[in-house]
Amino acid sequence: MNDTLESIFGRRSIRKFTEQPVDEKSLDTIIEAGLYAPNAGNRQTTVVLVSKNREINEELGKINKNAFKGRISTANSFVSRDSPSIADDPALKSGFYGAPVVITLFGPNDFIYSTPDCWVMAQNMALAAYSMGIGSCLVARAEDTFDTDAGRKIRNEMGISPDLVARVHIALGYPESGFPEAKERKRKDERILTIG
Ligand SMILES: Cc1cc2nc3c(=O)[nH]c(=O)nc-3n(C[C@H](O)[C@H](O)[C@H](O)COP(=O)(O)O)c2cc1C
Repeated sequence: MNDTLESIFGRRSIRKFTEQPVDEKSLDTIIEAGLYAPNAGNRQTTVVLVSKNREINEELGKINKNAFKGRISTANSFVSRDSPSIADDPALKSGFYGAPVVITLFGPNDFIYSTPDCWVMAQNMALAAYSMGIGSCLVARAEDTFDTDAGRKIRNEMGISPDLVARVHIALGYPESGFPEAKERKRKDERILTIG
């Protein structure tokens, strides 16, 4: 298997991180990999906010968790047994899982491809991170997380235009216990239709 395929098949969502800060050179490469993601019409509108501030990540992570009003997993339906999510373990306090770095991607609110642009960039970042031994988790509810007093304060301080909406977070850090095996995938004949 070549390195690209190894990264695609080996990447896992990581939700337990060590205290170790993310190496600066690796972080730069992750961000650069994001900037090289496909993007609609090559407009390159996504804005990248990188937070290495543990207090801010903690505060926004709690807000993100509280914005999660979804189902709580049952014994038969876990998001991840190896790396439990906030749906699996109500004791988890942060939607960012204590990650030392949290990247938030913002896109214009009047551009229909702004959300896919951000998520495609996030996936590039996740794959680049994995290829360098860095764990990641794509986290939703970025819109809610930044539509709060704490979020607005950061937006103002960082000079983020009011026309931009937060679309996705990428939690990044070194995995506490490696990369778990891939979760079983559903049967292919349930998901793949082929013509021709
Ligand atoms: C659109 C989307 C939203 C997601 N939101 C969250 C989230 O809010 N919190 C979380 O812990 N994981 C989130 N994930 C990660 C998924 O739970 C994870 O990708 C899935 O369980 C498959 O596991 P894997 O990434 O290890 O293959 C999200 C993934 C996607 C694609």
